Amino acid sequence: MPEVFITVVGRLFSVSSSNPSDRKIVVTSALPYANGEIHLGHIVSTYLPADIFTRYCRSKGYDVVHICASDDFGTPILIRSEQEGKSPEEYVAQWNRRDLQDFTDLGVIFNLFYKTSSKENIELTQYFFRMLSENGYINQRMVLQPYCENDRKFLPDRYVIGTCPYCGAENQYSDGCEKCGRTFQPGEIKDPKCALCGAPPVQKQSEHFFFRLSQLSDQLYEWLTENKNLQDEVKNYVLRWIQDGLKDWDITRDMSWGVPIPGAPGKVFYGWFDNHLCYISTALTYFKRNGVDGKAFWNSAEIYHYIGKDIVYHHYLFLPAMRMGVDEEYKLPDYVPTRGHLMLQGNKFSKSRGWYISLRGFLDSFPADYLRYYLAAITSYSQADINFDWDDFHARINNELVANIGNFIHRTLNFLKTHHNSTVPSPEEYDEVDQAFESRLLAIRAEVESSIEANEFDRALKKIIDFSAECNRYFQKREPWKKGKGSQTCLYLSVNAVKTLAILLEPYLYFSIEPLWMQISIEEPRRWDDASKIDVKPGHKIGEPKILFRKIEDAEIQREKARLGKMGNAADAGEKKPLEAEAKRAEVTFDEFANLDLRIGQVVEAEKLKGSDKLLKLKIDLGGEKRQSISGIAEHYTPEELKGKMVAVITNLKPRKVFGEISEVMLLAALDKATDKEHLSLLKPDRDVSAGSKIS
Ligand code: 2FM
Ligand code: ZN
Repeated sequence: MPEVFITVVGRLFSVSSSNPSDRKIVVTSALPYANGEIHLGHIVSTYLPADIFTRYCRSKGYDVVHICASDDFGTPILIRSEQEGKSPEEYVAQWNRRDLQDFTDLGVIFNLFYKTSSKENIELTQYFFRMLSENGYINQRMVLQPYCENDRKFLPDRYVIGTCPYCGAENQYSDGCEKCGRTFQPGEIKDPKCALCGAPPVQKQSEHFFFRLSQLSDQLYEWLTENKNLQDEVKNYVLRWIQDGLKDWDITRDMSWGVPIPGAPGKVFYGWFDNHLCYISTALTYFKRNGVDGKAFWNSAEIYHYIGKDIVYHHYLFLPAMRMGVDEEYKLPDYVPTRGHLMLQGNKFSKSRGWYISLRGFLDSFPADYLRYYLAAITSYSQADINFDWDDFHARINNELVANIGNFIHRTLNFLKTHHNSTVPSPEEYDEVDQAFESRLLAIRAEVESSIEANEFDRALKKIIDFSAECNRYFQKREPWKKGKGSQTCLYLSVNAVKTLAILLEPYLYFSIEPLWMQISIEEPRRWDDASKIDVKPGHKIGEPKILFRKIEDAEIQREKARLGKMGNAADAGEKKPLEAEAKRAEVTFDEFANLDLRIGQVVEAEKLKGSDKLLKLKIDLGGEKRQSISGIAEHYTPEELKGKMVAVITNLKPRKVFGEISEVMLLAALDKATDKEHLSLLKPDRDVSAGSKIS
């Protein structure tokens, strides 16, 4: 079979010229912890780029798999399951289902979404441990561990909170700092406190296993310098970490929730020892279920691990070191595409302060493709932070997606329907304008492809948008509605441009493009390489044109902006950590304020919401009319305390589903400035007023 070599970002891989499926690719997305909603930050850095790339590869005909799993172990998960009165197994299973549903609704598709607590992952982790031990990369020693005498237990990782020894940030967990990004060993944290009861822990002896990361420093250094696919900006600081000296890594935790350490009862592995092995164990499981030799596939594939910049240390050091330590029985990554953090209106996302967009909330208001489009457009292949801005979102959807892409597609198909009986006409002789347009059409696929292969999905999308704008200009210039010379050519080339746009956009906008194929009447298979081919022939009959994208109204954006910074904005999101600094509020006009319907209501019914520790289900009387509120105040008020109380509420926020229940009214409350989240007080009228009274 003839073989050609293609250079992709400095690296050679071979592809059979007649069989794209010879190119094997494993794509993994960083595993979400099984204790909170997938948020937009995860999507932007990891899942969306990985999904776009996988869909592109599939369209190219490459043999690609996309693998992910829930990250089930670790102290935060155990703590949360204890707080919710659930077994950890039950707790993580619930988040695994929820995450998979969220991914599916966003069009992020995996070949297998599995779990780190799977039998296969436990076995593989224990196997790695044995091999690393045999190869001399594990040692053992007694260490002092924080122990809480009140709670009578060892306090691994997140059971201890304190001050970062490197940058001084307070309220950090004992395994790493979210502010400066450094990871540290248990015992390094300053001013430690028990996360359960707040008491300072005592130190007790325990025998721990260590992975001798330092022994692999030279190999890691060489791998990083020789792998030309890794982003230089990331590589440079990882190399500095190595030069500063790597510490051996304590992989033991004195607890029961985790992968058991063979021969060490009561001890489990630290979650970062087993979670990245789940990329391999999940891929192997998927292949086994499909009758494929998974190990052979893995070792002959290009490996892409998509991550956000907060987990660089783990993916550029721990992960390759562990594979090196078992003689590279499983191939090291070729690419570790790393992207930045997501900001919201120029500020950090903060669930606790409502400066947050919940994925579910977003999908309740807008089509999934709007989010995919916007996030793909604003996210570069770099560590630079990305800013979600509602006005920018509004402008891009209306100007680019609706007025540019959607408009060209619809006007072409609609014109064919109304003026050509839904039939593609024969072209006439091309003039210069047609020739120039035809050359753009023939060239666009390769241009977009080179950006996608370079992992630059934002640039690829920009090329598609620019091409679509050219399509519109061509149509406009040709004025086919005048039925003059060249109008048939215009329709002929335009419908081929529509087909090309559909193929190029499909990895980004799967939900919208899928129904477009019916409109163009083109059946499968539709492959990437069919883009830029002029093969929709004269006489082809198209289907019924329909508008693909709807415009976003100003009021919708105002409503979203008004939600920011409000209590309850993230009530269903699953709290992970209330740390971020106070967010700046966007300015609102008087009219926007006046649009809020603020009233006094009376709580007439109150009960705990099943399955949640934080939410209460309330009935509020607004003077004749009773409405339901799902309110995140269960940690501050009991249902009994609330019954009969007069409270201030907003009544005209768009109703939303929280934990499967409709919330139609939002209660107003003050958070004590000094104690922040601990002390919450509902607002009530200073004099007697009746239920339903308007607040102005
Ligand atoms: O930081 C996180 O959210 C981790 N759960 C990512 C794990 S990725 C892996 F498994 F390597
Ligand atoms: Zn304690």
